[in-house]
Amino acid sequence: MSHTVPVPPEDTHAVAEVLYSREAIAARVAELGAELAAHYRDLRPVVLPVMSGAMFFGADLARAMRPRPEGMVVETIKAKSYEGTSSTGSVRVSPEAGDIDVRGRHVLVVEDIVDTGGTLRTLVEKLEAAGAASVRMVALLDKRAGRDCSVEANNPRWSGFEINANKFVVGYGLDFDGAYRELEYVGVLKPERYA
Ligand code: IMP
Repeated sequence: MSHTVPVPPEDTHAVAEVLYSREAIAARVAELGAELAAHYRDLRPVVLPVMSGAMFFGADLARAMRPRPEGMVVETIKAKSYEGTSSTGSVRVSPEAGDIDVRGRHVLVVEDIVDTGGTLRTLVEKLEAAGAASVRMVALLDKRAGRDCSVEANNPRWSGFEINANKFVVGYGLDFDGAYRELEYVGVLKPERYA
């Protein structure tokens, strides 16, 4: 079980607990990759990892999408809503969704984590306005308590794991103001690091 994995000694000053080990993440990414490859098999998907949080998840997931859907392309988009450990409430997206040619294409947005769903809604709106045929999201982590999940538009279509909303997590791309992204696992940041 992932929660039995100890925090590496060099990280104990910052990380309280390992939630998902490198191995647990790899196994889940492989499953998601196979499922997404089958879903998008004939849809020529545009896979769009959201930088910077999905830098590792997007890279691993795109490579796990086997057999490769015919016509699949991978681009990136940048979105930022968090300062420290809280959402700023506004989402900045760059490059503008219109800079990537998604007209008539089936877009798979790849996110690190969905919390309030604000980033998801903004990206879906912009990509649909840019002419995408469909826009769906896969998120590594889903903080379901952060939003009203009864509204379908707030939810990612696929997710790797659900996590408790009052935990701020780092690693495997998730950061605290740019720090800890490079951890190979997803761990809980010690509250004293940001209190
Ligand atoms: P939303 O727009 O509220 O759904 O927030 C999504 C974005 O918030 C993610 O892409 C992350 O950048 C950030 N975020 C939310 N929760 C966490 C967390 O626990 N750790 C690191 N980043 C987080």
